[in-house]
Amino acid sequence: MSKFLIAGNWKMNTNAFEAEKLSGYVAGYLKENPARCEVLMCPPFTSIASVGETVKGSHIKLGAQNCYHEQKGAFTGEISINMLRYIDVTYIIIGHSERRKIFGETDELINKKIKAVLDAELTPVFCIGETIDERNAGKTYEVIEKQITSGLNGIPAEKIAKCVIAYEPVWAIGTGISATPEQAGEAHTNIRSFLKDKYGEEVSAIKLLYGGSMNEKNCRELLSLKDVDGGLIGGASIKGDSFIEIIRSADELS
Ligand code: PGA
Repeated sequence: MSKFLIAGNWKMNTNAFEAEKLSGYVAGYLKENPARCEVLMCPPFTSIASVGETVKGSHIKLGAQNCYHEQKGAFTGEISINMLRYIDVTYIIIGHSERRKIFGETDELINKKIKAVLDAELTPVFCIGETIDERNAGKTYEVIEKQITSGLNGIPAEKIAKCVIAYEPVWAIGTGISATPEQAGEAHTNIRSFLKDKYGEEVSAIKLLYGGSMNEKNCRELLSLKDVDGGLIGGASIKGDSFIEIIRSADELS
């Protein structure tokens, strides 16, 4: 196994037919050419179970893009962690900037979700990142550190150590303009040292993914950075060949 986690966030793309085709394509390749890095697919809720069937026998893991923190009950339209666990989901993306911005998710709600995911012994992929205005105002680290401390509030260090954190500068998401290796490298190194100072050595070893317009062309440079342990990939993860190329690059670097 390598240190890398290559995670595809399909967002609200692919119907069940398309999801089967895409996951079958990637799984078919990986069955012939097994990867050493960890590979994760996060399809829309409606396709998670069928993608699970399609990728059986490959080592692709299943993730969800969101969840609700309550176990069950009158929460129309929501999906519980147990429902996801039942269909073999092991990772759940929490606090994606689209959830924060479009759906109004607060740090408090995100904190409840992270706690619930950890209580269920699944892995949260906890997303953080600054907007362009925050970056230009020199507030990048203030924003990121607040997101981290609020999102992880009240969680003991030994549990935080089981999280994955995805640094996704909001201005780089879906724009085709990724952070430069300098920007990403600096942010990741800062995040890791903040985690170490605040929660200790054990937590500073967690996987830190970069997200924001990572693709088959820029992934090598980004994945070669010391504190980058993988990618959370949107657009390029719904193109089979691009996603495979990112997986191959991670393997070449490890
Ligand atoms: P992108 O999305 O790769 O399309 O920029 C990344 C993400 O939002 O996780």
